[in-house]
Amino acid sequence: MAWNTIDNMDLQGKTVLVRVDINVPVEDGKVTDDTRIRRIAPTIADILAAGGKPVLLAHFGRPKGKHVPEMSLQPLVPALEATFGVPVAFCADCRGPAAMAAVGALAEGSVLLLENTRFQPGEEKNDPALAAEMAALGDVYCNDAFSAAHRAHVSTEALAQALPSCAGRLMQAELEALEAALGQPQRPVVAVVGGAKVSSKLELLGNLVEKVDHLVIGGGMANTFLAAQGIDVGKSLCEHDMTDTAAEILAKADKIGCSILLPSDIVVAWEFKAGAANETVAADACPADAMILDAGPDTVSRIAGVLATAKTLIWNGPMGAFEITPFDAATNAAAQTAAELTQTGQLISVAGGGDTVAALNQAGAADRFTYISTAGGAFLEWMEGKTLPGVAALEN
Ligand code: 3PG
Repeated sequence: MAWNTIDNMDLQGKTVLVRVDINVPVEDGKVTDDTRIRRIAPTIADILAAGGKPVLLAHFGRPKGKHVPEMSLQPLVPALEATFGVPVAFCADCRGPAAMAAVGALAEGSVLLLENTRFQPGEEKNDPALAAEMAALGDVYCNDAFSAAHRAHVSTEALAQALPSCAGRLMQAELEALEAALGQPQRPVVAVVGGAKVSSKLELLGNLVEKVDHLVIGGGMANTFLAAQGIDVGKSLCEHDMTDTAAEILAKADKIGCSILLPSDIVVAWEFKAGAANETVAADACPADAMILDAGPDTVSRIAGVLATAKTLIWNGPMGAFEITPFDAATNAAAQTAAELTQTGQLISVAGGGDTVAALNQAGAADRFTYISTAGGAFLEWMEGKTLPGVAALEN
């Protein structure tokens, strides 16, 4: 893969259309997690330093081609100004005469934010007419929205074809981290995959068994794998109609030589609530009236053993019901082990996906991982081995 970066573009005096992902959580008009805003700040700073004029293109929510006032980007302006440290002007359109005038009026050293691209019916259709109109607003296109790169939309795909294009700093960092984790990784590679359902991660598991040396399966989806081995999982979350598929994944892994680590002991409870009475039993001893809510200590130490032999870790999904204590124990312990091995330089650790980042933050381990992706769906599609249209369009 080869793409331009800000460093090999001449940005002096140029208007740079920068696709960012500022689809951030907002409550009562206030940004409650500004991670995505902080992560694009270096791109904005570097474009300004190179003499360019950054014009931000972004979506917010899923307005489906309609003007939905609650999904306006305008309320984000104060958070952007606070993080970038420069004035941020706003234009209530992302195309047409108003946008053209706002770009023309953009002062040097300032940033312009255009309104939600998804208010345009053509955006999600990757409409060439909208692309031509938006391309006319700038001289250069810079994509810094890896987390939206799984969408083939005008602002993520067509514009890269229409203008000289480059990757922003965050896009660069995401691609480099993911390349290090699964593209050309240092081996052995361990993938930790958790979460509720096998059905939502089928392609991902299928791709991973071909690429990694060890696959740790946890969370609710592990129950389906246990059931596939004829184990009674009681009242646990389990996709009984997916057990054949789970068995196929196990067989495929066995054939390829990818070792699969499933829970050998489990923490069971009779209620899904914080502090619920619980017991730790062998994986094949779940009481008929109980549910599995976490992996047990033996499993945790087996995960630690595998991590200790690994050079690279890619992590997606929690190991148990991490939202409620004490069923966050396996996730926390495995995250701590990974963080410690990363800090001693033994492990390259990359994690991504919505719940994953929340779980690693809760474990207090996220800031000691090598790289935490800002992406949810895009990270999953990339782990599935799919080509992301927004990334492909940047390739030279
Ligand atoms: C995200 O929040 O993961 C991205 O902004 C993509 O949003 P989407 O799933 O609505 O395309």
